[in-house]
Amino acid sequence: MLAKNILLSLSAVTFALALSPVGSGTWTAVSPSYTTQTCAGGSISGSTFTLPTDPNGSTSGSGCSNGHLRAERRYTNDYTSGVHQFAGTFKITSFTGNKIAIKQSFNEGGSLFFLLGVTNTGDLYNVEGGATIDSGVATVGTTVTINTIHDANKNTYSVYVNGVEKYSISSPTGEFYDKFGAYQTDSGTGAISIDWSSSAFWTQ
Ligand SMILES: *[C@@H]1O[C@H](CO)[C@@H](O)[C@H](O)[C@H]1NC(C)=O
Repeated sequence: MLAKNILLSLSAVTFALALSPVGSGTWTAVSPSYTTQTCAGGSISGSTFTLPTDPNGSTSGSGCSNGHLRAERRYTNDYTSGVHQFAGTFKITSFTGNKIAIKQSFNEGGSLFFLLGVTNTGDLYNVEGGATIDSGVATVGTTVTINTIHDANKNTYSVYVNGVEKYSISSPTGEFYDKFGAYQTDSGTGAISIDWSSSAFWTQ
């Protein structure tokens, strides 16, 4: 009994520390580099992304032309085909605003795609259209792991929350890259502080 408990504890620790790919097939780990985008008062410190309550009025800087609050990593993993998986663990540490996008599969020059939003009641949702992905799972102080799988050959996109597939849509064709952090959507308001403690990427 004691040995069994120790084994269970060890596997729980391993799960908390290491991100793993979900879904079928053989995944190859990749390590794309990234640039950072901070707009209108958004800031990044290590793996913590913070937006203040209101934009500061500045539209200068990369990705800042619409004046929205932004604090994001823009990964340089641009792709038009293949199968691409992202995993990341986040914890919202404060949230007085609402409706902030925390992860994007950005479609360069094409139709808007895909923004994972969070409400201040902890719901994860698709910013485009508003469909709920998982209810009340990302409340302040709760650690959440997200995996996304984008099959750019079959034009499918799936979102996993804490290892379970919760949402699936079709994707447009285009040239995509990954972003995460915090970004004020059209309907969103600051402030928020979110810690993305770990992330990983795979392809197949
Ligand atoms: C607004 O914040 C951005 C960073 O998010 C900064 O680069 C810019 O200088 C700030 N502008 C003003 C007017 O404070």
